[in-house]
Amino acid sequence: MKLRLSLAILVALSLTGCGSESNSAVVTEAAVEAVPEVAVVEAAIEVNPEVLAADLKSLGCYACHAIEKKRVGPSYRAVAQRYRDQSDVVPLLVAKVINGGGGVWGPIPMVTHPHLKSEQLTPLIERILQLPAE
Ligand code: HEC
Repeated sequence: MKLRLSLAILVALSLTGCGSESNSAVVTEAAVEAVPEVAVVEAAIEVNPEVLAADLKSLGCYACHAIEKKRVGPSYRAVAQRYRDQSDVVPLLVAKVINGGGGVWGPIPMVTHPHLKSEQLTPLIERILQLPAE
């Protein structure tokens, strides 16, 4: 999708560079039309539980978590339910995954994940919090 948008912009630039006024007007319209389509597709991917589960598995989170079921740690739907309207909580949850900790969901603490970076965890936690309630 990003590639398509870049192509549209590239075409827009090249036509604007050598073309007449009417050419650039047509291309601008095409580029604007492409934007809503891109936005819809990306939003759908962000809350797709299967894609999210695959990403979480690749980081080892599924050793203790699942999207639907409580395991050693809470289900990710329960996490989304608890923090849904608190966007400022994302950095705290990212820090908790990296540093470990407990006391919120029960007696078992989460282990530390010092090898994970906040840049990779932040979009992941944001997607967890966007999981719709079932
Ligand atoms: C060894 C088991 C284990 C692994 C691996 C694990 N977690 Fe956890 N996680 C837990 C437990 C236990 C809790 C509950 C901690 C508590 O009660 O405060 C938890 C809690 C959480 C919470 C909620 C924290 C809160 O304060 O409400 C999030 C978000 C979370 N985990 C994300 C992750 C992510 C992302 C990964 C993978 C990078 C991961 N966890 C890997 C055991 C684990």
